[in-house]
Formats: sequence, C-alpha cells, structure tokens
Amino acid sequence: MPEPLKVLIIGGSGFVSGTLARTARDAGHSVWTVTRGEKPLTEGVTSLIADRKDPAAFAAAIESAGVEWDLAVDCIGYQAADAMQDVEVLSPRVGHLVFISTDFVFDPLKRAFPQPFDNPYFLSGEGYGPGKRACEEVLLASDADMRWTVLRPCHIYGPSSQLGCLPEHGRDAKLIERMRAGEPLRLIGGGHFLQQPIFVRDLANLALSAHGCDLADRAIYCSVGPDIIESVRYYEIIAEILGVELRVEEVSVAQTRIEHPEWQSFLCHRIYDLTPLRLAGLKVPNMPIAEGLREHVESLL
Ligand SMILES: NC(=O)c1ccc[n+]([C@@H]2O[C@H](COP(=O)([O-])OP(=O)(O)OC[C@H]3O[C@@H](n4cnc5c(N)ncnc54)[C@H](OP(=O)(O)O)[C@@H]3O)[C@@H](O)[C@H]2O)c1
Repeated sequence: MPEPLKVLIIGGSGFVSGTLARTARDAGHSVWTVTRGEKPLTEGVTSLIADRKDPAAFAAAIESAGVEWDLAVDCIGYQAADAMQDVEVLSPRVGHLVFISTDFVFDPLKRAFPQPFDNPYFLSGEGYGPGKRACEEVLLASDADMRWTVLRPCHIYGPSSQLGCLPEHGRDAKLIERMRAGEPLRLIGGGHFLQQPIFVRDLANLALSAHGCDLADRAIYCSVGPDIIESVRYYEIIAEILGVELRVEEVSVAQTRIEHPEWQSFLCHRIYDLTPLRLAGLKVPNMPIAEGLREHVESLL
C-alpha cells in the first residue's frame, strides 16, 4: 500500500479527472477536486467549487481549503494562463504538480518513429496543441519551488468516455449502434495510422506515481499504452467484442488534409517509447488494448 497522499485535482468530475479522483481515492489518498460544480461531483472527495477562469475565485478556493498538498494534477490546463495560475497559486501549497498535456503538441509533419519526447518540432499558433505547448513552456521557464512533471497522453480510452480513436469516428456516441447495423466506418487512410492508446486508469496511476519520483521532476513524458496498433485494429477489437463484422470505407488522407485542417494531428503515426517512463521509475501503463477495450465497451452496453 503506497503512503497516503493529499492530492489536489484541477477538474475532478470529467473523464480523465474523474477517473483520477476515483483511482486516487480508492488507493487510500485524500482527494480534493476543483470544478465549477456543473457535472455531478465525485463521491468520497472534498469538492472545492470555483471557475478556474475566474482567477480570484480560484485563488480563494485554494486558499480557503487551508491544505498543503503532496501532489496536484492539472487535468484542464489549455492555455499559458492556466499554467501560470498553477505556478502562482499552487506552488506555495503543492509539493509536486503533474500537468496533463497532449501528444498533439507535436508537428505531425516532423515526427520521428518512435517519436522522442525531446523532438523539438511543435505546432505553433492558435488552438489545442499550441495552447498545451504554451503551458509546457510556462513550466519550463518557471523557477517556482514546486516539482513538476508533464504527461503527454495520446488517445485516452476507457469507461466514462465514448468510443472511437480516429475521425470520422472519434468519440462517436453511436459507434456501437453503427457497427451492429453493419454500417461501414469511414476511417481516414483506412485506419492505417499507428496509435498507442492509453487506458484511462493507467494514466491516473502514472500521474499518481510521479509523487516521490526524483527523476520525474521538471520532466516531460510521452504517456501512452503498451500496444502499438493500427487505428483500424482498435475498431476490429470492438467488432470482435460485439460479435459483428467490421466494415471500413477508406477516406482519403490527402482530401482530409484539405477539408479538415483541424484534424492534422491525427494524420500521422503516433508511436512512442515507454523506456523513459520505466527508467524514471514511474508506473508504466500496462493495460493490454484488447482487455481495456473490453472494459470500455462493456461499460457502454
Ligand atoms: N481524451 C483524450 O484522448 C486526451 C488525449 C490527450 C490529452 N487529453 C487531456 O486530458 C484532459 C481531459 O480531462 P477530462 O477528461 O477530465 O476533461 P472533461 O471530461 O472535459 O472534464 C472537465 C473537468 O473539469 C471541470 N471544469 C471544466 N471547466 C472548468 C473550469 N473553468 N473551472 C473549474 N473546473 C472546470 C469539469 O467540471 P464542471 O463542468 O463541473 O466544472 C470536469 O470535472 C485534458 O487536459 C485533455 O487535453 C485528453
């Protein structure tokens, strides 16, 4: 049994953050969450209500808790201002911050295979990936007296989310219905891009393992699952679980690049090496994709 920690989660009732809250609680840690109170709150945790986009309200909620936390996990930082808020408000009260970033920080046209965490080619400009990279840069430039670790997950799957790892069937609430009806799934490039989906509880346990890990201080990790698969394999596994035949209609990659520039980060192989996590002594994701998808599908049936 690990030493019980005081864990603060920014977020705490969403897909990733809610799973993290439950995983930490079930591991015997004391858990605080910060949400706006719009989604149902997680049981067995101390809920702080504040909108993080309201700096004064957020600072007051953290201050009023009167706690020194061992670990904080920011699950909902998207812009530089969010990471600055972590540094300013959390660093006096938190020993170690884990920031959930994304593998969409990388420029999809300048990837290596596998992609190392220190590949220096990032997306720039506006939007999701560049915003996450701006958060990472705030932490890299910070001299606050708080340890920090950045995790860059790829596709995250598991209960309390929808199925689907690739457009046009990413997070498709009707995926099971479509597959049972024999509808062909329209997958970019026929689903041949490689991915390494991470099971949501693996990500939660990885985040929790950062506490007390000296080598993970001021470090950034590509945070992915153990299996490298073609995206289409993800859908094949679901078909096998449902006992239906998978039918796929190939969508042109070139056409998608023109019609959907917002999907550019999906149009590449997204594979990584887990060795840096292992060498740091972090909890390495180990849920086999077929087992994790079975749990995910069953949670939706
Ligand atoms: N899904 C993927 O495949 C994937 C891949 C890579 C990285 N990620 C990262 O994983 C994280 C996803 O977290 P999640 O699944 O927990 O998100 P989520 O399901 O959207 O939930 C968001 C959580 O934050 C709270 N919240 C939202 N806005 C807030 C605000 N302004 N102030 C305070 N609380 C707020 C929500 O509760 P209320 O609504 O009640 O406030 C909820 O608890 C993101 O950082 C994302 O970039 C996801």
